[in-house]
Amino acid sequence: MKRALLFLSVSVLFGGMGKLWAAEGDGPARGRYLYLTQCAVCHGERGDGQGPGAVRLQIKPRDFTRGLFKFRSTPSGALPLDRDLYRILSEGVRGTGMIPQTHLSAGDRWAVIQYLKGFSARFVKENPAEPVRLPPPPADLRMKRAQGRQLYVEAGCVQCHGSEGRGNGPVASELRDAWGYPIRPADLTLRPLKGGSSPTDLYRTLSTGLNGTPMPSYHDVLTEEEQWALVAYVDSLATSELGMARGMMGMMGPGEEGLGRMIEMTNRMGMRGPGCMMQ
Ligand code: HEC
Ligand code: HEC
Repeated sequence: MKRALLFLSVSVLFGGMGKLWAAEGDGPARGRYLYLTQCAVCHGERGDGQGPGAVRLQIKPRDFTRGLFKFRSTPSGALPLDRDLYRILSEGVRGTGMIPQTHLSAGDRWAVIQYLKGFSARFVKENPAEPVRLPPPPADLRMKRAQGRQLYVEAGCVQCHGSEGRGNGPVASELRDAWGYPIRPADLTLRPLKGGSSPTDLYRTLSTGLNGTPMPSYHDVLTEEEQWALVAYVDSLATSELGMARGMMGMMGPGEEGLGRMIEMTNRMGMRGPGCMMQ
C-alpha cells in the first residue's frame, strides 16, 4: 500500500514532466521546442543572446543571429559544421555558463542544432566550408617547445597572452569582442581550455582562430611545423586546473560554470511549457 502511494506520488511528479516532454513533436517542431525550453533562457527566444539568464553571466551567451561562431573546424570567418555545434553541445565550453547538454539525446541535440541555424541567414546563403587540415601531431612534439617559445614572442602572442601566458599582455585589457563586450585573452596556464586542451585541439584553435574574438587564425601565417611548435609551447604552460582555481575563488562566487548550472536548474523548475522561461 505504502509502496503504491509512493509510486503514485512519484508518477504524479514525473508524469507531469513526461507530458511536458511529450508536447514536443519531431523534426523542426522538436528542435524549436527544445530550444525554447533549454536554450532560450540564456541565448534568448530570438537567438540574440539576450535571454533572462544572460545578465547573470560575465561571459555572455552567444548571439546566434550574427552567424559568428568561435569553436569550429572550419577556416577563419567560415560557419561551423553541424558536427562542430554538436561537439559544443556535448562537451560544453569549459569555464563558461555553457554546460554540456548531455541530458539531451543525440537525436535531440541534432534537432536543436537545426533550429539554432535558423537564426542566421548565413546558413541558408553559404555552402558548408571544408574543415582546415588537422595533421597528426609530430612524434617529437615536446622537443619543439623552445622553437615554440620563440614563435610565441615573434608571432605576437605575448601582446595579448603575456610573457608567461597568463592572459595579461600589454593590450589585454583593451580588447573587445564582435558583440561589443570586453574580452580577456585566455590564461594559457589553466586547463581545461574552452576549445579543448589536447594538442590537436590547440592546433585547431590556432589554425581556425576564434571568430568574433581578437584571437586570430594562424593558418595562413605560420607553417604546420611552426603551429605544432606553438602547440608544444602552449601545452607546456599548463600548470593549474580550472577547477582548483575555481575552488580557491569559491568564496567569491560559484564561477561561470556554477552560475550556468544554477540558471539551468531554475529554468527547469519554472518550466511549464515552450517559451516559459525563468522569471
Ligand atoms: C546557462 C546559460 C546557457 C544555456 C542554458 C545554454 N547556453 Fe549555449 N552558451 C552559453 C554561453 C555563456 C556561451 C558562450 C561561451 C563563450 O563565448 O566562450 C554559449 C555558447 C554556445 C555555443 C558556442 C558558439 C560558438 O561561438 O562556437 C553553442 C553552439 C551553444 N551555446 C548552443 C546552446 C544550445 C543549443 C543550448 C540549449 C540546448 C544552449 N547553448 C544552452 C550559455 C548557455
Ligand atoms: C590580439 C590578441 C591575441 C593574439 C595576438 C593572440 N591571442 Fe590567443 N586569444 C585571444 C583572446 C581574446 C582569446 C580568448 C577568446 C575567448 O575566450 O573567447 C584567445 C584564446 C586563445 C586560445 C584558446 C583558449 C581556449 O580557451 O580554448 C589559445 C590556445 C590561444 N589564444 C593561443 C594563442 C597563441 C599561441 C597566439 C600566438 C600565435 C595567440 N593566441 C595570439 C587573443 C589573442
